[in-house]
Formats: sequence, C-alpha cells, structure tokens
Amino acid sequence: MQAYAIIKKKRDGERLSPEEISWFIERHTAGEIADYQAAAWLMAVYLRGLDAQETASLTEALLRSGRQVDLSGVDGVKVDKHSTGGVGDKTTLVLAPLLAAAGVKVAKMSGRGLGHTGGTIDKLESIPGFKTELSLQEFISQVNRVGVAVAAQTEEIVPADKKLYALRDVTATVDSIPLIAASIISKKLASGADAIVLDVKAGSGAFMQDVTAARTLARLMVTVGKRAGRRVAALITDMDQPLGYAVGNAVEMAEAIAALKGRGPLDLTELCLELGSRLLVLAGPASNAQVARVRLEEILWNGRALSKFREWVAAQGGDPQVVDDPGLLPQAPRRIPVLSPRSGHVVEVNALAIGEAVRILGAGRARKDEPVDPSVGVILAAKVGTKVDAGEPLAHILARDKGEHEAKELVASAYAIAASPPKTRPLVRAAVEE
Ligand code: URA
Repeated sequence: MQAYAIIKKKRDGERLSPEEISWFIERHTAGEIADYQAAAWLMAVYLRGLDAQETASLTEALLRSGRQVDLSGVDGVKVDKHSTGGVGDKTTLVLAPLLAAAGVKVAKMSGRGLGHTGGTIDKLESIPGFKTELSLQEFISQVNRVGVAVAAQTEEIVPADKKLYALRDVTATVDSIPLIAASIISKKLASGADAIVLDVKAGSGAFMQDVTAARTLARLMVTVGKRAGRRVAALITDMDQPLGYAVGNAVEMAEAIAALKGRGPLDLTELCLELGSRLLVLAGPASNAQVARVRLEEILWNGRALSKFREWVAAQGGDPQVVDDPGLLPQAPRRIPVLSPRSGHVVEVNALAIGEAVRILGAGRARKDEPVDPSVGVILAAKVGTKVDAGEPLAHILARDKGEHEAKELVASAYAIAASPPKTRPLVRAAVEE
C-alpha cells in the first residue's frame, strides 16, 4: 500500500477499505507516514467525508494504537459518560456519584480544559489534595471499592488520536463529524466501559452550532459505539447559554456540591437526571427512563449521592470537608459586578463569550501545558428568561490579577436584553438511541 494512493482515493471521493485506513493510521503513528501526508489525508476526509463503515474502521484503528483498559475484573456493569464540551458543564461531578450511589460502577477518564470549554479534571483538582493521576491499578481498584473513579486520561490511551488531533488543530480539520466521532468513540472504547451515554451539545458554546449537525454526530457515534459491541445512547442538549450559573473551576465544583444537596440550578439537575436515567436503562437496572429517573431523584434527595461524593473525594485524596464548607475551595480575591445597561428580559447569554471571559481570567488555557487558576471565573446572576432592571447585576467576575477588563466587556457583550420575554427552549433537544 502507498500513502499517496490512499490520499488520492479519498480526494476523489472513493470509499477506503478497513485495511487501507488501518494501514494508514498504523504507519502514521509509527512515524513512517509524514505529517504532511497525514494532513493532506485529513483535509481529503474533511471535504469528502467518511461513511459509517469507514468511521468505524478509523475508530478501531485509533483504538488499536494504544492501551485498552481492562475492566473485566470489576464486578457489575461499568458505565461512562462523555460530553462534547460546553461552558459551565459540571454534570460529571454530580452524575458520577449519583450513578455510583444507584449501584452501577462509574469508570471515567477525562480531559483537561482547552480553549473556551472547561475540563472535568481541572474542576476536580480545585478540591485541595484531589489526585487525578491514577495508575491503571489504582483506577480499577477504586472503581471496585468505591464504585466511582475519575482519572486524567493517560498518554497510553489512543496515542494515534493525540498525533492526529494536533495536526487537525493546525489544518482547520477539527470540525469534521466523522473525525470527531472516531476521536471521541475510540477514547471511550479504550476506557473500557460497557455502557456509554453521550451528551452532544448544540449551540453557540458548542462544536456543533445547530441541532441538525449535532444529531448527525450523535447518530454516527451511537452507530460506531454499537458496532464495537458497547451499549450507547446520546442526548442532544442546549449549549446556547452556559449550564447552571457558575463557570470556572472551584465555582463549578461549589455549584455541583449544591446540586448534590438538592439545591442546584434546575438545568444542571435536570440534565444529570436525564443523562443518568438513560445510563441506568443502558446498564440494565432500570426497565425504562421514567423508572430510572424516579430512582435517581430519590437518591439525590435522600443524600445518598452526596455521601457517595464524600467517599469518592476522600478515595482520591481530596478533602471531603469541602462538602460542608465550600469556602475551603480556592477563592478569588476580587468580585466585580457586570451591570445591566437597561431594563427588560434576558433573551441571550452567549456561552462562547462567557467561556472566553473565564479563560482570559485564567481558569482555562489556550495551550495544553498552561496551568489554570482554580479560583477565578464568572457567576451569572441572570440567565435567559430572567427579568432585570437597569443597574442590576447580570453577572459577577471573580478575578485575581489578569483579564478583568476584557472579561467584563466580554460578559457584558454576551447578554442581549429585549422588551419581551424570549420563547422558552427545551434543555434536551433530542434523544438518539439507534
Ligand atoms: N473531542 C475529542 O476528543 N475529539 C474531537 O475530535 C473533538 C472533540
């Protein structure tokens, strides 16, 4: 086989065989195909697309490039969840202990934040002492003992994706549906769970700006995951405005703790219950989503999810006292209000602008190796549908030593205020199970 012929075949819109895809990925990972040829292939894929079979072949090839976590030693059904990335998305922090308290085993590997979207690992590390670098042995033993472990994804998981993603990042080929699907699903398969729920975001703060594109991505990921023998379902959910009120690291952790106490924002709690009930059905303990939801609501309201959260935090070396005293989480020294210029109804809170403001304050990173400030962020005071008076706070900026003015402008620009109330939009736009 020749790299040139494979690039040309895709350039001309032909279908690649599993052998061709597998050969290309293997040789590129081994350094035998140059990055310039891989970049040309990526652009051909971007322009011509891959069908479901080709995407499944690419997913398998990526998966084979690294280590696969063997969770067969863990009793029961192992579950995982993936979000395509959003602003203020702290669902894993609530969902993981909630599901573990419901009796399924949560084994999740997560990433750090990049660009305007935050990462679960950064949020977890805002708890003093919390350790996210677990060896495979520690990860598996904790899932067995506590029922939940969330660890930073190791270098050994799908190295081919890392290499390819770095090229996509600089060749304008990130936002290709089959490339995103193969990248995400290969990592989920490598993490070893039996049942996976995907939260595919649609809106201004997401990869997929509209519901149609999000649905296509969700369908493809569900198809590829099922072909690989896993139980997979997806929800398409709103990311036009941030989820909840808190955006940052420690502030999102504090909001997740409030949700586990039954005092969280409605949208966050709703999303956790919806994603959680789909997973309970996939994993087997519930016969349908309604039954699963009732069960999860009970576990949330009776405090069992909160107890499981304490146990999980302690197991990963974190200080469980943050549950009773969220003041122990890192605090930003400055709190600056952003005031409403006029009276009216909030009709838009642009998630991308809020995410950018939070990154500029130091809570996120533009490059993978930058440190983050766990204390800074933005707390919204008004969301879509809130009625505000002129001079009332729309949001508060939590700042330390940088980005305050730029962040203030971005947050102010994120808000649109109109004389009439907006039409309400559902949080869950669609479900994809087939
Ligand atoms: N997240 C991933 O892991 N991969 C992509 O390609 C896009 C988002």
